[in-house]
Amino acid sequence: MNIAVLTSGGDAPGMNAAVRAVVRSAESLGHQVYGVKDGYKGLIEDDLVLLDHQSVSGMLSTGGTFLGTARVPEFHEPEYQKKAIDNLKKRNVEALITIGGDGTYRGAMDLSKLGMKVIGLPGTIDNDIAGTDYTIGFSTAVETIVSAIDKLRDTSQSHQRCSIVEVMGRSCGDLALFAGICGGAEFIITPENPVKKEDIIETLKQHKEKGRRHAIIVVTEHVFDVHALANEITEASGFASRATVLGYIQRGGHPDSEDRILGSRMGAYAIELLHDGIHGVCVGIRDSQMIHMPFANVVGFPRPKNPLYKLYKKIA
Ligand code: F6P
Repeated sequence: MNIAVLTSGGDAPGMNAAVRAVVRSAESLGHQVYGVKDGYKGLIEDDLVLLDHQSVSGMLSTGGTFLGTARVPEFHEPEYQKKAIDNLKKRNVEALITIGGDGTYRGAMDLSKLGMKVIGLPGTIDNDIAGTDYTIGFSTAVETIVSAIDKLRDTSQSHQRCSIVEVMGRSCGDLALFAGICGGAEFIITPENPVKKEDIIETLKQHKEKGRRHAIIVVTEHVFDVHALANEITEASGFASRATVLGYIQRGGHPDSEDRILGSRMGAYAIELLHDGIHGVCVGIRDSQMIHMPFANVVGFPRPKNPLYKLYKKIA
């Protein structure tokens, strides 16, 4: 079987590990793999390269995606989807593996409805995909944020300040939640866990009275204007505050061991599924086991609120 693989949407550490596993496990079963450059853009523009054992050598430990990625909003238009399928058919590609987030899954589901054999792997730092405990890239991004929080704590403590750290995640607070717990944050503010400004200010006033030298607030992007929040906290609570927006640094870097393993497992599992004639599904990990489910069970579904919020409430 000829199989194509692409990475799409925001890059995530561990995507390369997944592509490597796709290529190597496919080869071991006698299949051939094409890498699609720059996500769905490469499918539309027929930009595919043959990959083999050697072409993915050294990729396991690299960040980003060596295939390239793109956001292609026009891909929801049937005209582009048909073009993509025609381009795949030209090379006798029977199956496609897509690695990305929610937008990538939507494109994958559409192609699947048009008759292509598709498998989706969850690759995004946001951990915002329903149907999987973890997405490829999330663990590494958490590590990156925790390391930033540790550094911010040093300077906050020295200057008796409150550090507000804005992290990515779109409408999912898992990055803030996990990194906030690991970094000992006083407040974790996310779409699933909104906190009133007045409550933050009141608590910080009490902290100040008790002689606490620093505080850390981790906030998911788009919940607050963090610079305005820092000014308000400084004025109203007397706790001098500074905001740091971590930004794209969260998406980069070598994948940690969790993401290397997760990417490798999911990539190999996708090939196993195709080899067994299963497609039209996306892959997940639940209770450490590889699982798969139809795209329709996942696309557009929110993740349930993470049970770790209970832990955070006990130990913050
Ligand atoms: O989905 C991954 C992500 O990094 C989000 O956390 C963030 O909101 C978004 O991508 C940024 O998108 P872009 O790379 O298009 O600016």
